[in-house]
Amino acid sequence: MYRILSLSSFLMVLAIAGSVQLPSEFKTCSRSAGNVNQCLADAIQGGIAILTKGSRSLGVLPIDPLLVTEMHINQGSGPVSIKLNFKDLLIHGVSNAKINSVTFDVNNKLCKLILHASVYSPINLVAQYSIDGKVLVLPISGHGNCNISLANPEAKVELTGKEVTKDGVSYVIFTGLNFDLNPQRVEMHFDNLFNGDKTLGDNMNRFLNENWKEVYSELKSPIEKAFGITILEVTNRIFSKVPAETIFPA
Ligand SMILES: *[C@@H]1O[C@H](CO)[C@@H](O)[C@H](O)[C@H]1NC(C)=O
Repeated sequence: MYRILSLSSFLMVLAIAGSVQLPSEFKTCSRSAGNVNQCLADAIQGGIAILTKGSRSLGVLPIDPLLVTEMHINQGSGPVSIKLNFKDLLIHGVSNAKINSVTFDVNNKLCKLILHASVYSPINLVAQYSIDGKVLVLPISGHGNCNISLANPEAKVELTGKEVTKDGVSYVIFTGLNFDLNPQRVEMHFDNLFNGDKTLGDNMNRFLNENWKEVYSELKSPIEKAFGITILEVTNRIFSKVPAETIFPA
């Protein structure tokens, strides 16, 4: 299931920043060369490694761990109805993503990039949380530290954008994103549930893990959105600074 992010407000603040050099360790892909898709898969794989610790010249913060200052889940109805807030969420493990395939198309200045990736290690979300609500008839409440571990997720990223021209120079800007993240299993641990009542807390953590599919179906969309905004932002930070001709030489 894909979630569409509309980022028009984000784009309003995103001005074409004027061209900078792509740091030389980034691989570029010639449009006319035979295998652009394979080249892009290698380039993106290399890009993830370079951006793990961030890039000052491109204005990109570290992507592993990735800091999400706040994330809010407010699920009013259904089997899992919770208010769950995360603060200072650190997402660990994104740099272990292995790019499986990339498909890139440009048509009438519209471009589409579809990417499939697998992560052969967990992605761990470590944060401070507060929770209140019900999970499958059981009340849940608490606040403290938590750790949500997504085992071996598969991801599909679909970016759509267009070529825009500024001062005669063409750039690619992505405005649309579908992102799908499917772990094989989810392990959760919430410290200090029920005001620190250990028996209740242990039972609830066990219950959440036994019912991880139902719980993750509620967490999935906000987690995908947090990743999705980051993917678009990082991609556009690079593409808004580096002319299309540099990234995709003729
Ligand atoms: C989070 O949980 C995973 C899986 O149980 C574990 O490997 C990791 O060390 C934990 N991280 C923290 C900060 O507790």
